Amino acid sequence: MTKEAYTLTSPDGSKSMELPVREGTVGPAVVDIAKLYKEQGIFTYDPGFVATGSCDSKITYIDGEQGILMYRGYPVEQLAEHSSFIEVCYLLLYGDLPNKQQLDRFATSITRHTMLNEGMLRFFNGFRYDAHPMAMLSAVVGSMSAYYHDTMDINNPEARDVFAHRILAKLPTIAAAAFKKSVGQPFMYPRNDLGFSENLLHMLFAVPAEPYEIDSVAAQALDLLFILHADHEQNCSTSTVRMAGSSGANPYSAIAAGVSALWGPAHGGANEAVLRMLEQIGNAGNIKKFIAKAKDKDDPFRLMGFGHRVYKNFDPRATIIREMCHKVLKQLGHTNSPLFELALELEQVALKDPYFIDKNLYPNVDFYSGIIYRALGIPTSMFTVMFAIGRTVGWVAHWQEMITDPNAKISRPRQLYTGPAQRDYVPIAKR
Ligand code: ACO
Repeated sequence: MTKEAYTLTSPDGSKSMELPVREGTVGPAVVDIAKLYKEQGIFTYDPGFVATGSCDSKITYIDGEQGILMYRGYPVEQLAEHSSFIEVCYLLLYGDLPNKQQLDRFATSITRHTMLNEGMLRFFNGFRYDAHPMAMLSAVVGSMSAYYHDTMDINNPEARDVFAHRILAKLPTIAAAAFKKSVGQPFMYPRNDLGFSENLLHMLFAVPAEPYEIDSVAAQALDLLFILHADHEQNCSTSTVRMAGSSGANPYSAIAAGVSALWGPAHGGANEAVLRMLEQIGNAGNIKKFIAKAKDKDDPFRLMGFGHRVYKNFDPRATIIREMCHKVLKQLGHTNSPLFELALELEQVALKDPYFIDKNLYPNVDFYSGIIYRALGIPTSMFTVMFAIGRTVGWVAHWQEMITDPNAKISRPRQLYTGPAQRDYVPIAKR
């Protein structure tokens, strides 16, 4: 919907232009500047895209001030309470909640796509014993385009759908294989009698030598974490997937690009960084010292798991996960978790500190997710991989939306050039 326009006038008043304003369903409107350069010969400048919308999207809505997160219009709190990860996947991919038959069919299809081509499994032997699981994940996801040629036609809706099911189903299998490689254990094949999160626990922790009993609380906690991480509109990794895919690259390559973007500590790598930070702090007696480091402009240390580009009051996912953290620790018998106690203490100190209050810095979802993963026996280096398992559906939903958007273009930002002006080549003997 379009409402009244902004008028942009050049500094000398010689040129002016009407910039249309477009309104979404909810949330701030956008000023459409697409014709600005053509008509005015000037670009806009917004490093980090802090005030720039890159596309139309019907998938996820975030209100950073109110702490609202909705998938396809459903508040994440309701989905966390009533839904399952597989149902949320359906919702994100197809736009509406499924009926019973649709859900059963979808869940069966995901289950039946979990096995990897055997050739892909051999990749894992080639990695060093100490390879980071995220390095293996991005490489093996990228390699999928070498195996599944039948889903490379991005203009074929059926091929796109098979791709979506395939990548959602196989990501946990690849993640588990990366983990098994890192601990030197045999790879465990997926089991079709298990649900999504149960099967992942089986592939991670079962060994061929003895039966493995799946803990229902652990499966429930994983399912919840995956729901909370499933999508977050145009975040760094999702924008990367859209950008890579905008060139018409095959979808496996676009998702591999997203995995790589997720790895950074300012994004998905934060859950790993939080645990390493808590270990570094060690005990409550050191909190003051580390808070001072986080506030010191000359010290690169930041309080990991604090702050968010969009949420400036609270992260609704953090509230849900904090509760789950209590439940998981209690039910798994960790009545005394020094790491969780330290996290709670650190949170309280930071929340009362004027530096964090003034800059609107609150705990984000990843302040707590690592503590749950740790309680479930998942090693720190696997935390971002777990995030990737949950986020894959968001990446796929956005890739699908972009590919089918008639107005989508190759992503190609411009720049403010600050390098040397034209100069003449000087032969090497004269330099
Ligand atoms: N510790 C200390 N100071 C911080 C922190 C922090 N965690 N986060 C932001 N600040 C300060 C900045 O130094 C800046 O100060 P200034 O105004 O004096 O320069 C101010 O708060 C604003 O921060 P920006 O970096 O400009 O905010 P931005 O939106 O660019 O960054 C980000 C957000 C990357 C999440 C940042 O808060 C951060 O690095 N947090 C720690 C890493 C983290 O937890 N990332 C996970 C994000 S959630 C996710 O991906 C699931």
